[in-house]
Amino acid sequence: MNFGLKFEQGLRLMLDAIGEAQDSSVAPLAPQQMALELRTVGAMRGRMPLLPYMGSGVGRGARAMLADGRWVLDFALGVGVHFFGHGNLDLIETALRAAASDLVMQGNLIFNREYYLLMKTLMQHAPRGMDHCWLSLSGADANENALKMIRQKREARAGVIAFTGCFHGRTSTMAEITDRPDYRGGQPSTFPVHLIPFHNRHDPDSAKLALAALREVIRVHGDSIATFVVELVQGEAGFISAPRDFFVPLFDECRRAGIAIWADEVQTFGRTGELFATTMLDLADYIDVITIGKLFQGSAVLFRKSFAPDAGLISGTFAGATVAMAVGRRIIEKLTSEGYLGRAGRIKQLEQMTHSHLEYLSRKHPGKISEPDGVGAMISFRVGDGSLKTTRAFIDKCFRAGLVLYYGGREPACIRLFIPAGDVTEVELAEAFEILDRCLS
Ligand SMILES: Cc1ncc(COP(=O)(O)O)c(C=O)c1O
Repeated sequence: MNFGLKFEQGLRLMLDAIGEAQDSSVAPLAPQQMALELRTVGAMRGRMPLLPYMGSGVGRGARAMLADGRWVLDFALGVGVHFFGHGNLDLIETALRAAASDLVMQGNLIFNREYYLLMKTLMQHAPRGMDHCWLSLSGADANENALKMIRQKREARAGVIAFTGCFHGRTSTMAEITDRPDYRGGQPSTFPVHLIPFHNRHDPDSAKLALAALREVIRVHGDSIATFVVELVQGEAGFISAPRDFFVPLFDECRRAGIAIWADEVQTFGRTGELFATTMLDLADYIDVITIGKLFQGSAVLFRKSFAPDAGLISGTFAGATVAMAVGRRIIEKLTSEGYLGRAGRIKQLEQMTHSHLEYLSRKHPGKISEPDGVGAMISFRVGDGSLKTTRAFIDKCFRAGLVLYYGGREPACIRLFIPAGDVTEVELAEAFEILDRCLS
């Protein structure tokens, strides 16, 4: 949007004020008041928040100020959403400009330029072979659209092949695919889901086992299967990576059987060192449909021409909030133009630094840190015996010491480090590891 001089002057004043507010704290709540409000949230939701975190709205890079004025280092990032950390002035400026728009929300019927520009930016950087994209609000929304489109082109076959440990969202359909029975308690099963084992780096036969399992599923159920859905780096299971060679024979097998290959990149988008994990693993030639979300503040399904849905199959009132669309586009622009991606990019540098910190900690605290895994800005490790109890207790201890963490997996569980790679400094990364060090002692 093109605003007049008055708007630009007002905007500059506002940005200066925001910059200052980040340095001098805004009036914090008394700790008891924040605790009361968190308990009220818990009472209203019927479930307490996992962490006693309520942000003040003030933050700087990896640091956020809680509503009670305490500063914490955020390595949970709203489960991977705030890649550029807190209070990024470039993103705030983009948001303020977009907030002055005539529309708060944009839809698939009536939209402004932000809708066009976001899609255009996504398509400009999409892996080869992706001809179209459709915007939506959450990762699960994008996944629902993907599955509907695929089933339509596979003569309404219902079956899905997925990996053990997978997570694809919390709608009824996605909860059926997700390998967490406790996430679909009391829900009926409405279509067949066949799980095959994901890569296990401790088992040299892992790829063979997965291939044998896939072949068996295809032999017995091939005619009823629509798609094979994969997380190229698993997320909820605990940032588990796999090499290209693990996927290729599986994808070849699906190709031969006419099964559509769908990469769920809701978690990996923008965080592996390339914009798409599909590109990082050079798998674009195999993949028919890609879903993305989180980091760009919205979600989308990208797909080949051959999967273009008939009119009416996918739509929805909302395509995104104007602010989220503008900021999402700016995030992709920053990622692709400011040295984050590629082998020598910032994300890969941070990956190496994080692994060195972890190696140091595992030497210093034998038996307490193990199983480092993950890629780019998504790194995980196990604490102690890896039980959920130990992991959650460690997260609580770190939170009290000023470091916000989140976990993944379950028996064994792990700590998932969501690295705010867009903004974190080496000093902040080292500080996060000093807290980990203290909490391990
Ligand atoms: C791989 C994957 N798919 C789908 C989803 C669901 O995304 P959302 O929570 O935005 O619906 C997630 C969320 O964590 C995810 O990690």
